[in-house]
Amino acid sequence: MTPASARVSVRPPADQVSTQQFAEDVAFYLTQTPRQLPSRYLYDALGSALFEAITRLPWYRVTRAETGLLKTHARAILSACAPLTDTVELGAGSGEKLARVLQARDAGSAALRVHLVDVSRSALSAAAGLLVGLPATQVITHEATYEAGLAEFSRTQSETGHTLLLFLGSNMGNFDPPKANELLCQIRAALQPGDLFLLGADLIKPERELMLAYDDPLGVTAAFNRNLLVRINRELGADFDLDSFQHRALWNATESRMESYLVSTRTQRVRIAESRLELTLHDGETIWTESSYKYSLEGLFGSLQAAGFARRQAWIDEDAQFALTLVQR
Ligand code: AVJ
Repeated sequence: MTPASARVSVRPPADQVSTQQFAEDVAFYLTQTPRQLPSRYLYDALGSALFEAITRLPWYRVTRAETGLLKTHARAILSACAPLTDTVELGAGSGEKLARVLQARDAGSAALRVHLVDVSRSALSAAAGLLVGLPATQVITHEATYEAGLAEFSRTQSETGHTLLLFLGSNMGNFDPPKANELLCQIRAALQPGDLFLLGADLIKPERELMLAYDDPLGVTAAFNRNLLVRINRELGADFDLDSFQHRALWNATESRMESYLVSTRTQRVRIAESRLELTLHDGETIWTESSYKYSLEGLFGSLQAAGFARRQAWIDEDAQFALTLVQR
């Protein structure tokens, strides 16, 4: 065992999202009105790689804007959290953004425990590999949903020092307002008084910019969305015909969210063996695969305050209309 890998501890498989759960969720959500699929299942190994590609598209500015803000304000963020002993990132992905922040720690800083929560095993191992190289850093990975990962973290939290919890990349945007509120309350409950919470969220912007971000001219977002059917075919023994599904994005101004769909381009029958499900999809019928809520700064702080956090600071990329908000428990 190399010294680096010795500092990465992997949680037992208890919190993994099982194939059984996947099969049940697919059976449940595909038979709802409207038909839908939970967006967390977009991130198998290929889905995570396709999302990484999305983050490099000129039309998808979220990741670049946020990385820029984190780089510029890393010291300010860290000094608000001193003394920092624990860091938790929900939906850590590649881990690059957290690395940006932690690279700004002073030489000789106290030991830091970094908890990474993500449903994608491939993303977790990439992130752990990156972060374990930082000085005095222990990495603990949780292959889990946000809820399960938060519960695991609060069981093992240090007694001393502060925790910085990060929920970046506008990942909260996948949740409708009641669900987002529930999650914010769970985040608050997992923290101690004085701990900090850094939330990255995409702001409302002109519809044409949003449409290009979620239906890009290269078709990468379409591939990311359609890969969900590839995953269901492979993992659940289904027979979705990829050629007869199209990606569609639309801006729902009333709900302040982008919506992503898979549209059936003909009437067809689909069998999903592991979910014990057979469906008929009509020509033009849709499966709703993702919501990406967009926020106003006032709305964000309002939700954070409603969940019991106190406002500390906001950093905004005016050009991309993206906000990093820092609040305190
Ligand atoms: C990772 C959930 C924040 O909603 O913007 C990107 C995922 N979907 N393009 C988002 C996504 C289509 C992304 N999040």
